Amino acid sequence: MTDEADDSAIGLTGRPPRHIPEPQPLTSHGPAKVISMCNQKGGVGKTTSTINLGAALAEYGRRVLLVDLDPQGALSAGLGVPHYELAHTVHNLMIEPRVSIDEVLINTRVKNLDLVPSNIDLSAAEIQLVNEVGREQTLARALHPVLDRYDYVLIDCQPSLGLLTVNALACSDGVVIPTECEYFSLRGLALLTDTVDKVRDRLNPRLSISGILITRYDNRTVNAREVMARVLERFGDLVFDTVITRTVRFPETSVAGEPITTWAPKSAGAQAYRSLACEVIDRFGK
Ligand SMILES: Nc1ncnc2c1ncn2[C@@H]1O[C@H](COP(=O)(O)OP(=O)(O)OP(=O)(O)O)[C@@H](O)[C@H]1O
Ligand SMILES: [Mg+2]
Repeated sequence: MTDEADDSAIGLTGRPPRHIPEPQPLTSHGPAKVISMCNQKGGVGKTTSTINLGAALAEYGRRVLLVDLDPQGALSAGLGVPHYELAHTVHNLMIEPRVSIDEVLINTRVKNLDLVPSNIDLSAAEIQLVNEVGREQTLARALHPVLDRYDYVLIDCQPSLGLLTVNALACSDGVVIPTECEYFSLRGLALLTDTVDKVRDRLNPRLSISGILITRYDNRTVNAREVMARVLERFGDLVFDTVITRTVRFPETSVAGEPITTWAPKSAGAQAYRSLACEVIDRFGK
């Protein structure tokens, strides 16, 4: 298969590029930095970014755990895991205290990349957790035993700001917000940053926004360029230099059930997520 040569993903913001050093190999692992991939708007590239940022970090020798926190199970499916058939998923982990994370964890085909899968069972969790004491910290309790084994835990949130997403934010060090450059995305970002502020004030003082990631970007439309300018004006240096352009390669990888870094390693999409991984490693310092 030939790799398509689409736009360079770097330099699209029009800012002078920052110098990001090539990541150094790690000599020891853990404790993990936990990052929620979060935007209540649907279809903005949360799951695609979780899989491919995770795979790119894993290529740089980081040990990565991906957590599927969406009942749609798109993250699990995108890694080729037959999630409908699984006996144990993140749902059991959150609802049944006797189920340990090692019963749920799956090693993916990608080296250094593990998965806590999900399926439609998780859709009951918001109701099941309502009367629990400390319901917002359920995921934190479940993940705690394995944090020392990983360098990064990336949580793929569902498109809502409900209790599951609050659970993700309550155990995270940072939030990465994938966003498209469309007018309605801007309004959604304000609501999301308010939610992050509330979770920081009430539940998790170490939470902060680690970065805004522009995804599915089409440089040919005036509207996309205008919205990009507004996002840069509002969020400044929080916006990653790496911009993920629109390419059919990403829908193809969902069908293939593997990350773009292994499916089309030389593609612009794979390079873009590697460049994002370098920025994330630089921002988190590990
Ligand atoms: N850069 C891109 N170029 C083209 N298509 C993309 C790109 N990124 C993601 N897609 C496609 O867009 C669709 C939505 O992406 P994705 O599932 O990652 O979004 P999401 O935010 O996780 O959605 P949801 O809110 O439903 O969970 C998918 O079909 C995916 O393959
Ligand atoms: Mg998704």
